[in-house]
Amino acid sequence: MASPLPSAAPARVVVLVSGSGTNLQALLDAIGDDPEGFGARIVAVGADRDGIAGLERAERAGLPTFVCRVKDHASREEWDAALAGATEAHRPDLVVSAGFMKIVGKEFLARFGGRFVNTHPALLPSFPGAHGVRDALAYGVKVTGCTVHFVDDGVDTGPIIAQGVVEVTEEDTPEGEAALHERIKEVERKLLVEAVGRLARDGYRIEGRKVHLGHVGE
Ligand code: GRF
Repeated sequence: MASPLPSAAPARVVVLVSGSGTNLQALLDAIGDDPEGFGARIVAVGADRDGIAGLERAERAGLPTFVCRVKDHASREEWDAALAGATEAHRPDLVVSAGFMKIVGKEFLARFGGRFVNTHPALLPSFPGAHGVRDALAYGVKVTGCTVHFVDDGVDTGPIIAQGVVEVTEEDTPEGEAALHERIKEVERKLLVEAVGRLARDGYRIEGRKVHLGHVGE
């Protein structure tokens, strides 16, 4: 599948968050006041809940925000359609799930499939789901890390864009999940910035499970 990216104008990016938003902040910092140089700009930030640091970061950056809570909708399908509509209103070229802790549905994927990027704190296909860091620790792996990938209709199963590795040491006990997650997030923030920048600047093509960067128009 060929992407419309890149165009002369910076790619429009909507970021979805559920928590502290440090990945969002890394993108904001990397773009800074040079969206042309970076190749992308964030046009809005969406969330599935109120009162989170991620939304505060967006507001501090002067960005429009929207909140779509599952409990405000009669069904999961209606929530999904509302989220898709709120996202579409900002006409994104790319949508980035940066710690957005919800699985989107059919409607969202129908509109944004092939341009919806997620970041996951484990080396997929190992340890998908909401507890990737904990599950990797419990399994006893010696390396783990993070994966930036396109979202498909599975849970953390879409084509992989980039991966980063983090060593697990003797000090990483099952109780130390938070500390390991912090080390992963240091790598993850750089990986996400690099991946979004490259997708936007160089374009991409998805062929089956393979993501090719810089192959627009071939
Ligand atoms: C990241 O590790 C992401 O992969 C996971 O939640 C974390 C979000 O961190 N799903 P933040 O909100 O960007 O600080």
